[in-house]
Amino acid sequence: MKLEEVFSSYKDYIMPTYTKTPVVFVKGKGSRLWDIHNRAYLDFFPGWGVGNLGHCHPKVMQAVRDQVSKLIFIPNNYYHLPQAKLAREIVYRAFPAKVFFCNSGAEANEAAIKFSRKFGKGARHEIISFENSFHGRTLAALAATGQKKYQEGFQPLPEGFKTVKFNDIEAVKKALTDKSIAIMLELIQGEGGINVADKEFVTALRRLCDEKGLLLIVDEVQTGVARTGKYFAYQHYGITPDIITLAKAIGGGLPIGVMVARKEIADTLGPGMHASTFGGGPVICRAALAVLKAIQKEKIPANVEKMSGYIFLKLNALKNKLPVIKEVRGLGLMIGVELSIAGSPIVEKCLQRGLLINCTHDNVLRLMPALNITKKEIDKAVDILADVLESS
Ligand SMILES: Cc1ncc(COP(=O)(O)O)c(C=O)c1O
Repeated sequence: MKLEEVFSSYKDYIMPTYTKTPVVFVKGKGSRLWDIHNRAYLDFFPGWGVGNLGHCHPKVMQAVRDQVSKLIFIPNNYYHLPQAKLAREIVYRAFPAKVFFCNSGAEANEAAIKFSRKFGKGARHEIISFENSFHGRTLAALAATGQKKYQEGFQPLPEGFKTVKFNDIEAVKKALTDKSIAIMLELIQGEGGINVADKEFVTALRRLCDEKGLLLIVDEVQTGVARTGKYFAYQHYGITPDIITLAKAIGGGLPIGVMVARKEIADTLGPGMHASTFGGGPVICRAALAVLKAIQKEKIPANVEKMSGYIFLKLNALKNKLPVIKEVRGLGLMIGVELSIAGSPIVEKCLQRGLLINCTHDNVLRLMPALNITKKEIDKAVDILADVLESS
């Protein structure tokens, strides 16, 4: 296909639900991508939070190839080895729990919402979530999402959701009723502009949940899989959630969702209460196992800590030089650079210079490089960003 044919095929046959950047990518390796003209790009937002190991990690490719040649799919009424192994590896890294496999972040959150309601036994079903949160596009996940722009046109949404101010424990307390069953949050709001939860707030939330018998659901769809330097972001906060949800990076580029729930919650469920045809299939589980193994073997959390220190130092130095940068915030390699100007033109200019980044919440540049990123790659990215910001 020629370039123009690609664009016209999208225009004629694919629903226009995405804002598209006119680049056609054909190849990726680590933090680099190549377009159809063989032009190379440095990717500082690989796969919208999917590429924690960069593009086409060799161990993920090897695992997928091997599994595809043996057994591509087997439904969930049978047993298979990759699912048994992956569940165990996830639980080892989290807390005593059981997992439910599905195919995306929204589905994992949907499962968390359904399981919470089941746990509430019909008497309690209300879920409290936060302003500027993002939990996915299915109707219940959308109802939990604290950003009106995503909900417009899709009402009526399922009832039983209340959204309150982030990092405000009094607002949470005020929203509680005798029907409340769970509190759901991202510890770093990704789509909402890289807003980091305060430690005291999270400790108070855990205490409140214990006092009132509420479930604490942490959406780790973007923050999980070592993004913040620990396997899961909650591990920075000295608390244990009742439920976490995972997706994006755990599949190494293949679609997966996982709901991880404390054993007592998991054991309230029985056969037929919830299901997913493709959830936890052999190929995706082999890919995810390879991701977790590579994170351990390549000492990825240590690299995140080192590279995080390095990039924050560089970005803060840039902030001191350029008044257009209002704030640099985040944790590990989940980084927001808040500007006093619109972010999209900056993203566009960076793209022209061969650097891929993202903008969220209008004026927050979002950098989420692969976790095996090097100092050299950071230097190059920050140099491009600095040039672009200086001339904007
Ligand atoms: C925190 C969070 N939760 C849920 C989702 C939804 O995930 P998916 O697009 O896989 O349904 C996203 C997607 O960006 C997310 O960032």
